[in-house]
Amino acid sequence: MNIPSSMPPGVAFLSGQFTAENGIKKITRCGDLSGVFYDRAAWQAIPVDTPVYRVEMLRSPQGEGELFVGITHLQPGRVGDEFYMTRGHFHQRREQGEVYFGLRGTGLLLLQNEQGVARLEQISPGSVHIIPGFTAHRLINTGSEVLSALAVWPSVAGHDYAALAHGFALRVIEQDGKIQAKEVQHG
Ligand code: F6R
Ligand code: ZN
Repeated sequence: MNIPSSMPPGVAFLSGQFTAENGIKKITRCGDLSGVFYDRAAWQAIPVDTPVYRVEMLRSPQGEGELFVGITHLQPGRVGDEFYMTRGHFHQRREQGEVYFGLRGTGLLLLQNEQGVARLEQISPGSVHIIPGFTAHRLINTGSEVLSALAVWPSVAGHDYAALAHGFALRVIEQDGKIQAKEVQHG
């Protein structure tokens, strides 16, 4: 092409990775996820340095109106009978939403509103998930390969992990060879 233009970053669909190599990377290991999985003994039995998920982010401007783009790669596996998952969060600025897009692997997106009502969406390559404002979100890998999902969210959104320190209202486990969602009674 001989018109002035630039080459934007891309996603390699087979690997679910950004094509650009100069992004920001953060690995979350089993030892970082204290209190996230309900079976504490099973969690303690896994070496603390075992990677559970990794987030790659593009370097983008920050401020009102700007957007972050990131890909989460969540390993397959379980802690006891509970599938590997991200920590999960509300946005610090609760009204800010987000879009997730399934790239690779299969799993569930757990969504929960401020009233504690939870629901699950199936995530697979090509699935599009609109996460409204005021909605906490967590990825769960129920498959046997890495689950990769691209996310776009306002850079001003921030993360509030503390609001869900007691956990979500649903846990996804393997029971009798099947994927099951169990309601959790808090309190
Ligand atoms: C950003 C977002 C994702 C997650 C990522 C890791 O708002 O939702 O990029 O940050 O999937 O999950 P957490 O942040 O819950 O550890
Ligand atoms: Zn988010």
